[in-house]
Amino acid sequence: MFIIIIAWYFRLKIKNLCVDVEKMEGIPLKKENKIKNKSILIFGGTGHYGRHIVRKLLDKKEKVRILSRNMETAKIILGDAVEIIEGDVTSRNVIIRCLRNVKAIIISLSAISSKMIKRIKQIERDAILIIMDEAKKSNIPRLVYVSGYDIRRDFLEKFKIMKFGEIKLEIEKKIASSDFNSTILGGSPSFELFFVFLRGNKMAVPGGGLNPIPTISAEDVGEITAQTVIRNDLNGKRIRLTGPEALSMPLAAKKISDITNNRIKHIKIPLFLIKIISIIIYPFNPFLRFIYWSLLMFNNFPSDLAEKVPEDHQFLLNTFSYTPVTFEMEIKRRFQKTS
Ligand SMILES: NC(=O)c1ccc[n+]([C@@H]2O[C@H](COP(=O)([O-])OP(=O)(O)OC[C@H]3O[C@@H](n4cnc5c(N)ncnc54)[C@H](OP(=O)(O)O)[C@@H]3O)[C@@H](O)[C@H]2O)c1
Repeated sequence: MFIIIIAWYFRLKIKNLCVDVEKMEGIPLKKENKIKNKSILIFGGTGHYGRHIVRKLLDKKEKVRILSRNMETAKIILGDAVEIIEGDVTSRNVIIRCLRNVKAIIISLSAISSKMIKRIKQIERDAILIIMDEAKKSNIPRLVYVSGYDIRRDFLEKFKIMKFGEIKLEIEKKIASSDFNSTILGGSPSFELFFVFLRGNKMAVPGGGLNPIPTISAEDVGEITAQTVIRNDLNGKRIRLTGPEALSMPLAAKKISDITNNRIKHIKIPLFLIKIISIIIYPFNPFLRFIYWSLLMFNNFPSDLAEKVPEDHQFLLNTFSYTPVTFEMEIKRRFQKTS
């Protein structure tokens, strides 16, 4: 009997000792190792922003998993260092498969393409609700959602474009009221926007794009999102992602002209032409209608938000560790490549 009691005493002591040593490190070692072995899962990891998020996470030695509808294309975009699951996000079974052994989720999905637009509700709403539901069941604590810069209901109502932003509004509300450790990142348009309208030495912009708008390099979105998902102190925050300054299309054209020594002519195309065509073809394909709404938004971008861009950018500099890419740097990078 005495021997049994002594054995029990030492068993408890040894167990307690182990716990004490682990406690000294803050997080129990076993748990810490388990977390390290888990992946960060990105929905939309092949996308314009997603691929930069993936690269920045790999640079930080994180294990990364993505879901893509096309394994081959995803491999070409991302290489072999990332785990790729092939499938469609609208399938609950696919989502469940993706969520195994995951410590955090980034949602950077978009259905704004001519092929996907008809399924926007299933992809950008229903699938995200399923992801949240299944992630909860799997006890995944951290969720980062890449959304639009600032989605204002009154703005959408004023321009009668609720359809353009209501899904994101709903998802943001659901995430903010959930008990995930969550952060919403309001992505501004990528610098790419200034180059899509450029043909030779002409920048032809529907509506003109005269209002200054925030823009950012896709690389900076990648870096900030990667840092965000790793951190645990940004719970409940909504952060607007922008480069250093708000730019109008004519100002962007002038900057490109100055740097390339090639005069870029800014031309305003009437927006109503796109409006009419988009209404005619809406029953067959609503994509052009979405493009029209986004053009309407950027031609009427609220001046109070544009004025806050330097402040929003300063917040990023104070909160994250990175050296931002300026529009000037982006112009030089592109034109050095092509010259
Ligand atoms: N790009 C911008 O300038 C910009 C500006 C402001 C805000 N944002 C926001 O940033 C987020 C990401 O946008 P993005 O422009 O980077 O997107 P994107 O380039 O259009 O990429 C879309 C991503 O969604 C994935 N996807 C779409 N349908 C899917 C499906 N059924 N199943 C699985 N995956 C699917 C695609 O994966 P696969 O094709 O590999 O299947 C792809 O990785 C969005 O919330 C968007 O509103 C972007």
